[in-house]
Amino acid sequence: MAQKKDQIRRHIRTLEFGRRRFSTSPSNRHGHLDPPKPGEELHVTFIDKDGEKHTFEVAKGDNLLDIAQANELEMEGACGGSCACSTCHVIVESDEMYDNIPEASDDENDMLDLAFGLTETSRLGCQVQMSPELDGLVVKLPQMTRNLQASDFEKRS
Ligand code: FES
Repeated sequence: MAQKKDQIRRHIRTLEFGRRRFSTSPSNRHGHLDPPKPGEELHVTFIDKDGEKHTFEVAKGDNLLDIAQANELEMEGACGGSCACSTCHVIVESDEMYDNIPEASDDENDMLDLAFGLTETSRLGCQVQMSPELDGLVVKLPQMTRNLQASDFEKRS
């Protein structure tokens, strides 16, 4: 547990000193995506907190955070996609599709450990890039997310 806390502190410190890419610009600035080339469209469905499904045609290489924000879905992405928060947490619906996603890095796993409502098929949206293997991916947005950066900054002010 103490080791985990040290990891979290390191991540937060890293953000404060700017050694990693960190953005405080509004989330809707992150979401511009080029349309997929004709014939290369991939499909992804988000299930929002109210259970509503939103399906989009996207391009190879688009990540789930950018797709969600470009389509005004509720995904905060507090660290701007630098794998330093857990506010882009998504839950992959099918185990089979989950297995098609490249394995999470250690950084992603560290952040996932902090995610609210972690499941066996949880991932960070900013770390999942669309590929032909993920065509038809369905992800759920969790009921809540945990933003350690914000709570850390609140404590300091
Ligand atoms: Fe922060 Fe994905 S936006 S980890």
